Amino acid sequence: MQLVFSIVNKMNNLDKKENCLTSASSNPRQNSCYEKDAKRSLIWPPPQASPKFNPRLNLGVMASGNGSNFEALVKAIQNSQLDASISILVVNNPNCEARRRAQRLGVPCVIHNHREFSSREELDKALVKTFTNHAVEGVVMAGWMRIVTPILIAAFPNRLINIHPSLLPSFRGLDAVGQALKARVPISGCSVHLVTPQVDDGPVLAQAAVPVLSSDDHQSLSERIQRMEHQLLPLSVALAGQNWRNEAQN
Ligand code: GRF
Repeated sequence: MQLVFSIVNKMNNLDKKENCLTSASSNPRQNSCYEKDAKRSLIWPPPQASPKFNPRLNLGVMASGNGSNFEALVKAIQNSQLDASISILVVNNPNCEARRRAQRLGVPCVIHNHREFSSREELDKALVKTFTNHAVEGVVMAGWMRIVTPILIAAFPNRLINIHPSLLPSFRGLDAVGQALKARVPISGCSVHLVTPQVDDGPVLAQAAVPVLSSDDHQSLSERIQRMEHQLLPLSVALAGQNWRNEAQN
């Protein structure tokens, strides 16, 4: 416990300087926010060399809003940090930023507008059909703001992944960042987990701890957590992919 407090104190003291932890360096990455957050935060399991998949992972992605996690996956693929391809992005909001990102990044995108379906189950049947048509081996819910039903979960057992902005099992459900601020916890973070019928439940694949600073408001904490999400999601998908391929061999 003492150790945890000492780490958090160090993090808080470092934040007073607010700029980078490293001294000025000729290496631009050492001065970037990416580097800064990576040093302040703890990712578990620790990031390792990205595994290669033969053939590479074929993913489907679901998004409802901004789509920054979707873009982080695409960038990780482009940078060879994730050996995968995204066959299809499904969005439920026709005007969402995720759709515009898909257009810009050249990823096929289909709209399944939940307002046009008679029930959650009917929407999920359409999702299953789309992902099955694209022969995806796993589906990533990268900011999918709808509750999914056993229809989708059963179609992709242990192959449906969700990202949530808290250290689960704390702060499940809506506005996890607001919940963490309200609870005045010194550490929050983000989790990537396999989806089970209970919302924001299911086995955790990886987590990143993020300090909550006394100066934080909703926006600053959300942004710090999101920067970690963008690192955590690709490495979690790679971990899941290794499990899928091991299962297939046995
Ligand atoms: C993320 O914070 C994720 O944890 C939650 O929804 C948010 C989506 O953000 N499930 P974005 O659309 O990827 O920017």
